[in-house]
Amino acid sequence: MKPEKRKIFIGGNWKMNLLTSQVSGYAETLTKQITEDGRFDICVCPPYVSLERAVSCFKNTCVSVAAQNVNENSSGAFTGEVSCSQLSDIGVERVMIGHSERRIYYAEANETVNRKMEAAIKAGLSPILCVGETEAVRAAGNAERFVKEQLVSAFDGVPCDAFEKTVIAYEPVWAIGTGKAADAEICGHMCAFIREVLRTLYGECAEHMSIAYGGSVNEENIAGLISLTDIDGALVGGASLSADSFGKIIASVSAIL
Ligand code: PGA
Repeated sequence: MKPEKRKIFIGGNWKMNLLTSQVSGYAETLTKQITEDGRFDICVCPPYVSLERAVSCFKNTCVSVAAQNVNENSSGAFTGEVSCSQLSDIGVERVMIGHSERRIYYAEANETVNRKMEAAIKAGLSPILCVGETEAVRAAGNAERFVKEQLVSAFDGVPCDAFEKTVIAYEPVWAIGTGKAADAEICGHMCAFIREVLRTLYGECAEHMSIAYGGSVNEENIAGLISLTDIDGALVGGASLSADSFGKIIASVSAIL
């Protein structure tokens, strides 16, 4: 059994997919399929250009809206970037930080992730912090050390009350978009390990945090993942692009809780 205070987080990471003109149809289909349930924390993460539309389409529903990234600076000459206050200004309440695609394709180092965490928290945005090792790191036997470093660095200077607003997504890079989700042993072990690290950083607060798994989650494998003690949800990429399949994932979780 998971402690009651831990919410089941189900996030849909659209990445660079779907058009703004598709958001309202998506919202309509998804919200028809789900019923308000206080145990759930559901969010969608559309591209920047669709955020404002998503905020308006999901208004007064149980689905919140997260940005996929944010710049760590408050304003200034950073062409192409978006700040935390610009997100808050359009009603966005949360933000993904440190997704592996940001770390790998845009060279986001642990220090930058930490600065983004601090900026988000200062602006009142709730972070969804992504961590996870590459295949090479795992093959070398360094998965735990690697993920621990990501966590310790991300939370450096982050106070306990802000920490509690964060959702962690453990997303092994080798499982993202490959159709091969990590098996129960690996993700169960890593999510328990992540909670252990968080306990050493924040004590008992760590018990209340939601730690989600991400990487090729779909309607078929979600039930097995969510039944593991330390997995409190899922960050879903490909399978969240259809509102229908994202809704089915949420329904499968609901059926086994
Ligand atoms: P995937 O992506 O579900 O398509 O593997 C997950 C993610 O990158 O968040």
